[in-house]
Order: sequence, then C-alpha cells, then structure tokens
Amino acid sequence: MNPNVVNSLFENKPLLMLAPMQGLTTRVLRQWFIDPVEPDMVFTEFMRVQTRSRKRVTRSDLSEVNSHRGEIPLVAQMIGHGEGPLCEAAEGLQLAGAQHLNLNLGCPYGRMLSGATGGELLREPLKLAALLGKLRARIKVDFSIKCRAGYEDPRQIFELLPVFADCGVDWLILHPRTVEQRYGGEADHRLTAEVAAICPLPLIANGDINDVATGLELLKIPGLSGLMLGRGALADPFLFERLRKRQIEPVPQVERSEQLRDYIGDLLPGYLEQFCGERQALMKLKDLLNFIPDSESQRILGKMKRAQSLEKFSKLLQEL
Ligand SMILES: Cc1cc2nc3c(=O)[nH]c(=O)nc-3n(C[C@H](O)[C@H](O)[C@H](O)COP(=O)(O)O)c2cc1C
Repeated sequence: MNPNVVNSLFENKPLLMLAPMQGLTTRVLRQWFIDPVEPDMVFTEFMRVQTRSRKRVTRSDLSEVNSHRGEIPLVAQMIGHGEGPLCEAAEGLQLAGAQHLNLNLGCPYGRMLSGATGGELLREPLKLAALLGKLRARIKVDFSIKCRAGYEDPRQIFELLPVFADCGVDWLILHPRTVEQRYGGEADHRLTAEVAAICPLPLIANGDINDVATGLELLKIPGLSGLMLGRGALADPFLFERLRKRQIEPVPQVERSEQLRDYIGDLLPGYLEQFCGERQALMKLKDLLNFIPDSESQRILGKMKRAQSLEKFSKLLQEL
C-alpha cells in the first residue's frame, strides 16, 4: 500500500470511528450517524465470507460497499477463514468498489461458523501470518485489522504486532480484552498505552469508551491515532460531537430526551424501507433500545420494547 494513502487517512488525527456491530450498524443506522454526527470513519457489519459458494460475498453484502452518500470513508469488514475464500472475497469487494478493507480478528463467537474465524484465528499465529501475507498481496486498497489483545493471554498482542507489520497491514484497531473474555471484565486500556508506545502502525483504541471523560483520557496516550466507539455510540450518538468539543458536562435531561426522540424517530422510515415491513422494522428498533441504558427514561423505553405495533411505539417515543 502506498504510505501516502495511509498517511492521508490519518492526517486529521485523532479520528473518531463508529464500530461495526452486527445486526445494528446497518446502512440506515450508519447513514443516520453520517448525517448529523459525522464520525471520521464507519464500518460495515462483518461480512461472512462464504467457503461453500463460489460467490464469496453475498450480493447483499457487496451492495453495502456503495451504501453511503458523502465523503466519510466506509470500511468493508470481512470475517471468515481459508486463504482462498478470503482472498477472493477481498478481490470481489474491491471490484465492487471497496476503498478500505478490514479483517475481523476479534469476534469471540468464531466457532459458531464453519471453521475458526474472527478471534479464533489468533490461536494459530503462524497460519494467521501466512493468511495475512496472501491477503495483503491481493488487497490494493488500505488493509486494516480489528483485533482483541490475544486469544487467552492479553500480552499476545506483543507477538502479533511484528506479524501485522511484516505482513504489510496498514493500521490496527485494538480492543484490549482477550477472545476468551468475550465481553466480561473491562477493556484494559493500560495495555492500549503500552501497545501505542511501540506500535509501528497507526493504532485506534476500542472498548468501553462510553463517556467523554474516558475518551479524552485515552486521547492523551502518546502515539494513539484515534478512538472507535461501539455500544457507547449506540447509547449516545452525540458522544462524537462532545468528544470533539471536549464537553465533559452531562447533557441536561430535556436535551437528552429530545436527542433520543430525534435519533429513534429519524431511523423509523429508513428501517421500514430496509427491513421490508413493520414487524421487522419494529424488532430492529427494539434491538437498538437494548443499548440505551438511560435510567431516567427506562419506564418508557421498557414500554417501547413491549410495543406490538409501530403506531404504539411511535406514540410512546413522543413521551420520552
Ligand atoms: C451486538 C454487537 C455486534 C458486534 N458486531 C461486530 C462486527 O460485526 N464486527 C466487529 O469487528 N466487531 C463487532 N462487535 C464488537 C464491537 O465492534 C466492539 O469492538 C466492542 O463492542 C467493544 O467496543 P465498545 O465497548 O465500544 O462497544 C460487535 C459488538 C456488539 C455488542
């Protein structure tokens, strides 16, 4: 990869990215973030690379590559196994127009698929190195990795860093939990700081960045190129804006309720269109509510989760 291209991606550091979240960061949700919140980069949900079909990426996943208007970079994320299928998937995605490719080395549920994928790939670092080398040779756009600190040992990352660099990976997102930890315990950002001190690649910190104070503290880490926000961003999309303004004070409840009403209300028409039908759209909206922990609004949010029709859901939304 031409280093100038990668440098230009990171020239406006620190970057604030929206994390990929399967089932949640659909094109409609991403576009909503792009419009009022403008993350510096967004990701597709992981695309499962097919091992049994000659079409390595489904048509619907391929169409994700061109899903947004505007300039904000969209990273297409692959999850899968096998050099052949992954390389062919990478080629297919590039042909479809992908400008940024990422490999998932973090998903802790990799065994649920047909072979070791996601975080499971960290169990065999030699095989992983061979795979990354092959992929790099086929990827002409920038190639990043999103990984856990290790499979069972959080310090495995220090063995992985030179492998990533030698294989020509361009940049890295680190979620400092182990795969075995799944979502238990806390993301250990002391480890992020240790990694940032020696990492030869641009490094993005991810994991448990749920408020401005935590984000700003992390941005003090020398060498860090940015933050990736996942569940915190679903709960509070305007975290991006407040991080940029360094605004630590909590948002007054009236304003917060108004933001929530707009956020959920704006998604409604897009969900209806994308998910073909009221039931599906309602289910998807309820999935999102599970990530909004506001204690002040729990009573109404709880009722919204139980609503049986979009009409009822929309009425309750106005009561927030
Ligand atoms: C429901 C859900 C779905 C996720 N799907 C993906 C995914 O498709 N690809 C990926 O790399 N990570 C995925 N993740 C992990 C997140 O991107 C992120 O690394 C993790 O949630 C930690 O960041 P957070 O504490 O800011 O949420 C998912 C997480 C959740 C909770």
